[in-house]
Amino acid sequence: MKRVIYAKKGGLDAIDFVDEEVPSPSTGQVRVEVHRAGINFADLMMRQGLYGAAPDFPFTPGYEVSGIVQELGDDVEGISIGDRVVALTGFGGYAEQVVVDYQRVWPLPENVSFDAAAAMPVTYLTAYHILVYLGNFKSGDSILVHHAAGGVGTATAQLAKALKSGNVYGTASANKAAFVEAQGMIHIPRGDDFVKRIKDDIGGVHHALDPVGGKHVMDSYRALRNGGRLYVFGASSAVKGPKRSMWTAINMWRTTPRFDPIRMMNSNKAVFGVHMGMWKDEDVVRQHMLELAKMMEIGLIDPIIDSVYRFEDVALAQKHIHDRGNRGKVLLDFSPAN
Ligand SMILES: NC(=O)c1ccc[n+]([C@@H]2O[C@H](COP(=O)([O-])OP(=O)(O)OC[C@H]3O[C@@H](n4cnc5c(N)ncnc54)[C@H](OP(=O)(O)O)[C@@H]3O)[C@@H](O)[C@H]2O)c1
Repeated sequence: MKRVIYAKKGGLDAIDFVDEEVPSPSTGQVRVEVHRAGINFADLMMRQGLYGAAPDFPFTPGYEVSGIVQELGDDVEGISIGDRVVALTGFGGYAEQVVVDYQRVWPLPENVSFDAAAAMPVTYLTAYHILVYLGNFKSGDSILVHHAAGGVGTATAQLAKALKSGNVYGTASANKAAFVEAQGMIHIPRGDDFVKRIKDDIGGVHHALDPVGGKHVMDSYRALRNGGRLYVFGASSAVKGPKRSMWTAINMWRTTPRFDPIRMMNSNKAVFGVHMGMWKDEDVVRQHMLELAKMMEIGLIDPIIDSVYRFEDVALAQKHIHDRGNRGKVLLDFSPAN
């Protein structure tokens, strides 16, 4: 079987492939024949060596897959050979076959495609965890989300609708205005003064989701109303393009604000740091997944797929994201060749 690896830290040329034996599941694991693997922005950052929580090089990225169960280890419950499933792999999902802990594998309802399933876990889990679990979201709450046309952005828009939100402001590149508006968000072109726009419109938002980092974080904080919550969950401004730029990464880190709790107290605002990969309570994740699966089955959420690339074209797929071309989720096709 084939597996994608990041041979070393760097640009798109750091991506390589290995051919190896099909892995066997240990106790409590299942082996899944992968049909789709989701690409996340974090995969690009870890290729550039800018992601603290990644394994040592060489390694295989890939947090999420959908596919068909081929083999069971001992002591596996609730999963059978032949099941269509979605799985949270942690790392290693960019592969034709993966072995995963059975508690991170969920059978798919018949009406959910492999595309939709692989596009769901990371983006919707993150948005759901932020809004519902951390955010204590109430109907009518307003939201600001950046990278609004991307994976987490479109997931946030759909969850906001399902939760009967108030205004949802989405920043994204100017050429994505129509797409962002079609998702029910109010588009603000990337680089425009979103703080002024939001203050003028509604005084401030209840929830601001910032995956950008750097000085952008303080602007998101300023866009909050009294009692509002900021969630810092990424650092995309550490990335300049396909090639790693240490200066850009250092500048992101240097300009990210350090919050003063006394000033936060006086303005009644909260700041959460959110990293689903470092979240420790598995029961919470499983509960989120079950809630999201229900929402998906009844059509309340339906992941937007930008494109599906054969896995051999993984560098092209990642370049498409670096070029800010995606509207929705980008997937890799690992299904067995016909
Ligand atoms: N903490 C967590 O647990 C967690 C989980 C999931 C995702 N995240 C973070 O959430 C963000 C969104 O993730 P995603 O996977 O859904 O990705 P995504 O939003 O689909 O990422 C691609 C989009 O990001 C925007 N972008 C901003 N800065 C960029 C840059 N330097 N290079 C290329 N594109 C850039 C571009 O859209 P525009 O040009 O339209 O802005 C691009 O189309 C990322 O920062 C990611 O690390 C965090």
